[in-house]
Amino acid sequence: MLVDGFQRRITYLRLSVTDRCDLRCAYCMPREMTFLPRRELLTLEELHRLALAFMARGVRKIRITGGEPLVRRDLMDLVRSLGRAVGSGLDELTMTTNGTQLAAHADALAAAGVRRINVSLDTLDCARFAELTGADRLPQVLEGVAAAREAGLAVKINVVALRDGLPELSDLIAWAHGQGHQVTLIEVMPLGEIAQPRTEQFVPLSEVRRELEQRWTLLPSTHRTGGPARYFDVAETGGRLGFITPLSDNFCAGCNRLRVTATGQLHPCLGAAEAIDLRAALRSDEPDTALSHALDQAMRVKPERHSFAIAQGAGPAVERHMSVTGG
Ligand code: GTP
Ligand code: 5AD
Ligand code: SF4
Repeated sequence: MLVDGFQRRITYLRLSVTDRCDLRCAYCMPREMTFLPRRELLTLEELHRLALAFMARGVRKIRITGGEPLVRRDLMDLVRSLGRAVGSGLDELTMTTNGTQLAAHADALAAAGVRRINVSLDTLDCARFAELTGADRLPQVLEGVAAAREAGLAVKINVVALRDGLPELSDLIAWAHGQGHQVTLIEVMPLGEIAQPRTEQFVPLSEVRRELEQRWTLLPSTHRTGGPARYFDVAETGGRLGFITPLSDNFCAGCNRLRVTATGQLHPCLGAAEAIDLRAALRSDEPDTALSHALDQAMRVKPERHSFAIAQGAGPAVERHMSVTGG
């Protein structure tokens, strides 16, 4: 089993399959982003072997992330292989996607054993979407969300709370709840260099909550997924609303996860520099032993908490963008 130096049991792997993305969300990466050379990436077969090694050590839940996972060719082969373990080795296989290519893949995801997906969507305004992401693709994302629902997937809409997005937030939530989707709000984190100062983007969710309470009754909920979100039920919409507050209300004491990048770097924490090279372990003469040792090492070096701070003049807490580490 995987237990870290702070007695936290690790049962959840977030596996990134690519650092590439067809969008350029302003809080995530600069418009002129440099991506990794494709030859650096693990093959889908290696990603599968890695996932099995984590499962052998007690991981019960896997989330496929990126970048945008659905831009990776043949990704569904990996999803299908991992999906076979759902109900035996795995409790859950999920994905976080930006939704632009979801319409084409929703049925296959459901057939492979995926039950829930998270779709990142920060605005319902076409012009603002284009400005925020650098691409005029809101209609495709909405089609993707609709296709996911039709395929029977539960959809959670992930919204990064941005200062200039505040005025639209309650309408976005009303829309999502009206469609039967949960919403989770996320505080922006200082990951990697971007064009805009983080201080201009950041808004603490305590402030967002006060704002939303002008319109709605938020009832604290005991619902938990094992993740960092704390939930409220919105009395008026009947929907569920999650708050992820890495900056304003630290949740690291309950951390149950590890992250692996598309090149096989294991990051024990999203917000810290530590990295362990699983690709070298995987390609060594005795991969099973090497991987097992690497996971033991991850348990020794997993930090107690991230070191995020958003302040005038403060640089990123870590140089890696979210799209490199995996969302
Ligand atoms: P489930 O628990 O699987 O329902 O998912 P969730 O609602 O927790 O959402 P998800 O796992 O997709 O995480 C959403 C976002 O929360 C991520 O993209 C990150 O921005 C943030 N997040 C998730 N896990 C962590 C974490 O361990 N540390 C920090 N700082 N942020 C996290
Ligand atoms: N801070 C918070 N959330 C971010 N995401 C991407 N970059 C950041 C950041 N710097 C979000 C995306 C998506 C998830 C993978 O992470 O919007 O929902
Ligand atoms: Fe791509 Fe996700 Fe970053 Fe947006 S937030 S640019 S969808 S990786």
